[in-house]
Amino acid sequence: MKAAVYDRYGPADVLTIRDIARPEPAADEILVQVFAAAVTTADWRLRASAFPGVMWLPGRLMLGLRAPRNKVLGVAFAGRVIARGDNVTRYALGDAVFGFSGAGAHAQYLTVKADGPVALKPKSITYEEAAAVPFGGASALVFLRDFAEVKPGEAVLVNGASGGVGAYSVQLARHLGANVTGVAGADNLDLVRSLGADDVVDYSKQTITELHSRFDVVLDTVGKLTYATAKRVLKPGGRYVPLEFSGREMIEALLAKLTGGPKMILNVSGDSREDMQCLADLMEKGELRAVVDSQYPLEQIAEAHRRVETRHARGAVVVTMGD
Ligand SMILES: NC(=O)c1ccc[n+]([C@@H]2O[C@H](COP(=O)([O-])OP(=O)(O)OC[C@H]3O[C@@H](n4cnc5c(N)ncnc54)[C@H](OP(=O)(O)O)[C@@H]3O)[C@@H](O)[C@H]2O)c1
Repeated sequence: MKAAVYDRYGPADVLTIRDIARPEPAADEILVQVFAAAVTTADWRLRASAFPGVMWLPGRLMLGLRAPRNKVLGVAFAGRVIARGDNVTRYALGDAVFGFSGAGAHAQYLTVKADGPVALKPKSITYEEAAAVPFGGASALVFLRDFAEVKPGEAVLVNGASGGVGAYSVQLARHLGANVTGVAGADNLDLVRSLGADDVVDYSKQTITELHSRFDVVLDTVGKLTYATAKRVLKPGGRYVPLEFSGREMIEALLAKLTGGPKMILNVSGDSREDMQCLADLMEKGELRAVVDSQYPLEQIAEAHRRVETRHARGAVVVTMGD
């Protein structure tokens, strides 16, 4: 099968398309013919070894100190079940599915645990759209619902509201009943409004400290805010949630705890079957929509990585596998 392979960390050019062995499903796995997969900020970070600050060393220790141990990236996919292990009853051959793979989705075939973070693809959406949802959708859901515990009527500010996670954060904060303010560049304000934001802010014209509003939750998906800035716009008891963090944020979170300032929540997103099902249900009901920035054939995956690396993607960047 064809796969995008990388043998060393580096720029997007380290990715090459090669023929590698097709995986075989274990007893508890399904074999998926992948039609579309997302290229996410996680894939860029893994490929380039671009981990913020002090996270570099733990990142390298986990992924391979000198060279990546796992050579095929791709954390989110959509495709069709074409084989299943002996113990699998959850899916039938031919089922259209989407979900998290952890790795390996930038290939024509992929094995994933049948009980893992996978769900049936809503019929109303394409494979490209389905592949665009798991990464940003699950991150937004887990950070807003579980970590920040957003309640109906609360005011939520999403910084980076049109990006891979931001585009879903706006929709899901709204779904949780919040009043949402989305911060993005001028070209993306209409998109952010169309995703359900009550207010939008163009970061090139206004800083968030110039706003008159105060927020219960500030979710920063771009790593452009600081605790000090967020504190100025948070209500007493508010929560600051930076998705991108390193040593400085860890110290600030500790100080916030010791001094009793607004809470700073640092965490990493999970990926569960229940959450994938939740996202599928919301899409079925029309309460969540996929946001696809651009599509590239697998052969042009380096271009897709470069697009992600600009940090100006509108929603998800997707690669397609062809037949
Ligand atoms: N902790 C975790 O578990 C977790 C989970 C998922 C992701 N992450 C991390 O979260 C980060 C976000 O991921 P992502 O995929 O959403 O990134 P992304 O797609 O690159 O997000 C880009 C967004 O940032 C906006 N932006 C760029 N410059 C800005 C500025 N100065 N002020 C405000 N917004 C600005 C862009 O808007 P314009 O194009 O309009 O400029 C765009 O909406 C990544 O670093 C990723 O590694 C962490």
